[in-house]
Amino acid sequence: MTDLMPILGYHHIEFYVGNAKQAAHYYRTAFGFTPVAYAGPETGVRDRACWVLAQGDIRFVFTAGLGPDHDVVRHQRDHGDGVKDVAFAVPDAEEAFRMAIERGAQPYREPEIISDDHGKVTVSAIKAYGETIHSFVDAAGYSGAYLPGYAALGPDAESAGTKTALTAQPGEGVGIEVVDHIVANVELGRMDDWVDFYAGVMGFTQLVHYDDEAIKTEYSALMSKVLWDGVGRIKLPINEPARGKRKSQIEEYLDYYHAPGVQHLALATADIVATVEALRANGVRFMRVPDTYYADVRGRLDWSAIDEDLDALADQNILIDADDEGYLLQIFSEPVQDRPTVFFEIIERHGSRGFGEGNFKALFEAIEREQDVRGNL
Ligand code: FE2
Repeated sequence: MTDLMPILGYHHIEFYVGNAKQAAHYYRTAFGFTPVAYAGPETGVRDRACWVLAQGDIRFVFTAGLGPDHDVVRHQRDHGDGVKDVAFAVPDAEEAFRMAIERGAQPYREPEIISDDHGKVTVSAIKAYGETIHSFVDAAGYSGAYLPGYAALGPDAESAGTKTALTAQPGEGVGIEVVDHIVANVELGRMDDWVDFYAGVMGFTQLVHYDDEAIKTEYSALMSKVLWDGVGRIKLPINEPARGKRKSQIEEYLDYYHAPGVQHLALATADIVATVEALRANGVRFMRVPDTYYADVRGRLDWSAIDEDLDALADQNILIDADDEGYLLQIFSEPVQDRPTVFFEIIERHGSRGFGEGNFKALFEAIEREQDVRGNL
């Protein structure tokens, strides 16, 4: 057993995209995030533009390169828009890096202290699956909007000493509060290597294992193991494709992302019906399960312990699953870029620590109908 690496939570999730300004606009207007910080030519950063948006405890960063030879541009060419960095807040970024390397992780960024008028931050990073990285960020001594070098946006920007005239309208939050889990897709046969990585390097343990019998449709199957930090701040399911009659959704992802990477991010809300209503009104589209799903769950689940109006859930096509510990509500967006790669889950938990195992079949059949429309099943 490896001692758990001290991790306080997610610091931010960084996406490499083709057009960060438009991505920021989409996540503000569609998902209700508020732009809080920016770095780019106006702030003295010559080679890239980074927009930082926040909602609840969640911070997303959208970065685009500004020239043809920039690594962010190369990354976007290879993978399309996708998640580059699942960054953890840690008490000591130098120590976290040292421990990770000692336990076999590959370095991405040596520990570095960066500072501005608002204080100093220590950052480092290690490599994970595909081109994904994990940054370690110790920002306890920092009072600025995001990290040193970024200008604050929004109503407080002037008092925060912003040198730029950039402003941004706040988003109208939709009630999403915290990252619940972040799922990786890896190649056939590689799931256990990455389970070993998170166990060995981070000291995570396996919360649950879904085999290809649990996650299968008529056409395809996948396997999944969930690593977690033992307290629930960090939960990282890892999927690999299993052999089936046709191409699995994991293989479709790998074909279009051209590498292992983040498949979906689950964002938690305390009121999923209101959140999904708001997202739909903003134009976000979700996977649909057939109406027969609701007749099925009405009979399948023990409703004595579930305080929900099934008709309200059915109206929004929200899924429900229950286990010994409680229940959960969930829904999955369509992919949020042209390539059928990254999508979002919205989740509301009532005691259950599961991932909606009872919904896998209905959900994956819905995904396969979309795959078929794309000619990829
Ligand atoms: Fe999920």
